[in-house]
Amino acid sequence: MRARRRRAAAGAAALAAVLAPAVPASAPAAGAAASRCGDVAARPWCRASLSPDARAALLLPRMTVDERIGLLASDDPLGGPLGGFIETAHADTGNGVPRLGIPPLYMADGPAGIRQGKGTALPAPIALAAGFDDASARLYGATAAWEARHRGNDLIFGPSVDVLRAPRNGRSFEAFGEDPYLSAALGASWVRGAQGQGVMASVKHLAVYTQEGSRQSLDSRVDERTLREVYLVPFEAAVKTGGAATVMCGFGKLNGRWACQDGGVLNTVLREEWGFKGLVASDHTAVQDGAGAANGGLDLELPIGLKYNALMLGNAVRAGQVAQATLDARTRTVLRTMFAAGLFDRPAYANDLTSIGRTASEDAARRVEEGGITLLKNAGVLPLGAPKSIALVGAAAEGNPSGFGSSQVQPFSSVTPRAAITARAGAGAAVTYNDGRDVRAAADAARRADVAIVFATDSEGEFFDRSCLTLNCGDPLRGDQDGLIAAVAAANPRTVVVLETGGPVLTPWAGRAAAVVEGWYPGQQGGTALARVLYGDADPGGRLPVTFPAAEADAPAVPAAGRTATFAEGVFVGYRHYDRAKVAPAFPFGHGLSYTTFGYRGLSVSASRVRVTVTNTGTRTGAAVPQLYLGLPAPDAATPQPPRQLRGYTKVVLAPGQSAVVTFPLTARSLSYWDVRADAWKVAKGCYRAEVGDSSRAIALSGRFAQGGATCH
Ligand code: BGC
Repeated sequence: MRARRRRAAAGAAALAAVLAPAVPASAPAAGAAASRCGDVAARPWCRASLSPDARAALLLPRMTVDERIGLLASDDPLGGPLGGFIETAHADTGNGVPRLGIPPLYMADGPAGIRQGKGTALPAPIALAAGFDDASARLYGATAAWEARHRGNDLIFGPSVDVLRAPRNGRSFEAFGEDPYLSAALGASWVRGAQGQGVMASVKHLAVYTQEGSRQSLDSRVDERTLREVYLVPFEAAVKTGGAATVMCGFGKLNGRWACQDGGVLNTVLREEWGFKGLVASDHTAVQDGAGAANGGLDLELPIGLKYNALMLGNAVRAGQVAQATLDARTRTVLRTMFAAGLFDRPAYANDLTSIGRTASEDAARRVEEGGITLLKNAGVLPLGAPKSIALVGAAAEGNPSGFGSSQVQPFSSVTPRAAITARAGAGAAVTYNDGRDVRAAADAARRADVAIVFATDSEGEFFDRSCLTLNCGDPLRGDQDGLIAAVAAANPRTVVVLETGGPVLTPWAGRAAAVVEGWYPGQQGGTALARVLYGDADPGGRLPVTFPAAEADAPAVPAAGRTATFAEGVFVGYRHYDRAKVAPAFPFGHGLSYTTFGYRGLSVSASRVRVTVTNTGTRTGAAVPQLYLGLPAPDAATPQPPRQLRGYTKVVLAPGQSAVVTFPLTARSLSYWDVRADAWKVAKGCYRAEVGDSSRAIALSGRFAQGGATCH
């Protein structure tokens, strides 16, 4: 607990320090002249002291049916993915009603930073996930929202919290990896950070969105237990813990029902069970049937009212397919959400690029990346020390790769690894660069240098899944990066491989490399962060949020080829699959080395908390990430349990010899499985195993505790 509190305090201080220079001392007072709503005498809903529900109740009856319908769609024919390329355009703009003082609603992508012309390109969300650090997630969300706000937006489409089912998913880079607990904690923190900047977050894409292939029409067949224990978990946390103001429903179907008209998820689970009071927006063109969507719980259609328009939705209401009360409920939700976010009571945020104050965002981008750079292997070559000559190889040294699609940010500026390493190496060292197209020349350059650093990347993005897990799979333009790495490693035994990928790749050459670093898509300050970590100015803070398989066939799932995806693996997603199948991964979930070492002692275990002491046993200051995994007893043969599931983590920086007592609180939910017969969370009777260590496969200590009157034998 102490470590957690310390970490939280440090995180909050860091956030304040980073954003303080730019954050205005005080927001405009609610209800002051700044209000866009108008005079409270004529418009009683403008009284800011009333509750959002009361204000919506006063306003709704004053709206015509067409005005109500008009509020339920944004009005950007070029909205969504296209809008983000244009400097001043918002991704989407919701209609206001000037007659009644209802302001427009301005929206932007997205989960890796603001996408409205140029912005600060943050490291990909998967790099944030590798940080295993809630404070970093708050900083990330705050930075994205800060920039969204200064481009005049009320709402940002992020974070993406879709749990990574198939490692080949084209959007692997855009969310937080394969574990629901980690995704939940980071997503909720992201939302809090973002909304703390006065911008609504839109957590996406509810409910199950796991591949790009056939994404507009895919029917994901998922059993209820898997849904509850895996795919819904991060959304639940974003809503309940993060307080997300909005949710985006996805393309495709879940068990035969279109995501944006699935009343079972949107009305029953999200609203009734989780208590969500905000609005549900559709992904762009995801609405199939307007009446179905209105009845199923969709409030806002994006990017335009293809179905939610006066003609079609109006006819549906007139024909009784949609009850007037339902239309009113949708409208009330939009109004309530806008009232709760303070939109009526302040001027529109100015769209002013110059007001962003880029230094704080750049600093955040670098720090998040340093925290997420994951050292997979180190045979002593890192940190670099002071080599006299360094051969940089591979075109990725000359850029900061990113995924493409609606989360791709056009960076304000970019510090490449080549520039940053050359600067850090200083005048006393010769740094050469070879783009790697001529493998023999690259190997020669490597042979002549004290150290070779070879950079490799992959191609990921929206609309396509990868067709295999090797580097540059399906992208012949990148050449044979595996062959290049092998040739460079053969030429110089002191070869460091720096991967900049959006998800797991196969690493057949890992045995021959002296070090392997996963830098993910590192964002615009990626070069600086990588140079600092390679030289040991910063400890590599990352731990894998995804398993790196040893072979293509070992992956738990692949994107479905047709229009139906059957989630046959059930809850055995990610490391749960490898553990059950007893398959050794190349690098396991949770793995990542520091430049120092850590030891664990004094494990104490109960049903309400697990406590352990972690000590820096090495000679440098470094970041430990103790991880807690629980093995739950199976209540019956039909409910098999994964050997271990992440139920706690923390990040603690320790000086040599320093120790910290780390406490992982447990709740009933930590011990629960979803009981399909009872339709509820249940704690099984039996013996629970608690494991603490540096990764899912480096368990240092374990203990047991019993529940329901059982005993542990
Ligand atoms: C994506 C969303 C994104 C939207 C708007 C869609 O293609 O799936 O995640 O927010 O475009 O750009």
